[in-house]
Amino acid sequence: MQISVTRNPSPQAAPEGPFGFGQFFTPHMFVADWKDGVWRDPRIIPYGPFMLDPACKVLHYGQEIFEGMKAYHNQADDSVHIFRPDMNLERFHRSCDRMCMPRIESDLFMRGLEMLIDLDRDRVPESPDSMYLRPTMIASQRGLGVRASTEYIFFIIIGPVGSYFSGGVNPLKLRVEETYVRSAHGGTGFAKTGGNYSAALLPIKQAQDAGYDNIIWLDAKEMKYVEEMGAMNIMFVYEDRVITSKAGDTILHGVTRDSVGVLLKDMGITWEEKAPAIAQVIEDAHSGKLKEVFACGTAAVVTPVGTIHYQGSDHRVGDGGEGTLTRKLRDLLTGIHAGNSPHHPEWLHKVPSYPETR
Ligand SMILES: Cc1ncc(COP(=O)(O)O)c(C=O)c1O
Repeated sequence: MQISVTRNPSPQAAPEGPFGFGQFFTPHMFVADWKDGVWRDPRIIPYGPFMLDPACKVLHYGQEIFEGMKAYHNQADDSVHIFRPDMNLERFHRSCDRMCMPRIESDLFMRGLEMLIDLDRDRVPESPDSMYLRPTMIASQRGLGVRASTEYIFFIIIGPVGSYFSGGVNPLKLRVEETYVRSAHGGTGFAKTGGNYSAALLPIKQAQDAGYDNIIWLDAKEMKYVEEMGAMNIMFVYEDRVITSKAGDTILHGVTRDSVGVLLKDMGITWEEKAPAIAQVIEDAHSGKLKEVFACGTAAVVTPVGTIHYQGSDHRVGDGGEGTLTRKLRDLLTGIHAGNSPHHPEWLHKVPSYPETR
């Protein structure tokens, strides 16, 4: 399917860093519409607001999914690469299925993404900053009533984001969430859908008001086992292995989580996918068996966790600073992102040049 390109006649000047996160967008966006059972009119147009009917399904029933991924500039040859887009595409398909939305053709998703990045290529910042990519699908059919929409809008917006570490590496202070739960078996935990995040706003705000950076979710059934964080997966480093929750139907299967798992196996370190019991984690933090804890996700790559609050007390992990393995994994991943590493070149997908965007 042909993607049409309409250039922005009056693009705003490119912003200067520091970019922070989610504050700036490039002058263009990709849009396609689902109507009468097919994706129609894929187009790149100037970035701008949508006209939505106040009775459209997404506004009432939250039928919405999205992805979060990044493209990086490679200084050596001035190319731009997307990090493991195949993984995000697969997850987007899984989110579509769970939220009763039509899948978008993989080719259309990829070409829309590539052409949009290509058109705004000169706005991809130098590493370690990056271009954040946000493919999204919303239910646009007008009409109340709890039924899947018959119409959808798929769109992609992109924008420069800063490195999470520009102010230095600050170990996270996390609070175990002991009242609210994120997801249960049979729910939508593995889908990247807005409702999972809106339900998390209150506990995250409460934790932040109490001086913590974020929360650790426990399983909904027993509230005993660690699941993940607000927008990151979490891993526990022991002498002889690294443990993280299983990628079942209650957690988001992070692309960074998977990448870290592969890198650990490359290093000959055992990577165990088995939800750790929070009481054991705390006991091991005190005995010293637990060496390091880190969070991982597209935004913060690999970030140390220095403190865990559970049952009324703060518990320090290691010396409260960054552990050796955490540092090593972050350096490995950021090296791969920037194109400076011999490891896993297959994880970088080069953005081609399209004649339509020249
Ligand atoms: C709930 C949740 N868990 C984990 C992650 C980490 O996933 P990824 O590594 O694909 O960014 C994210 C970020 O997208 C998230 O929102």
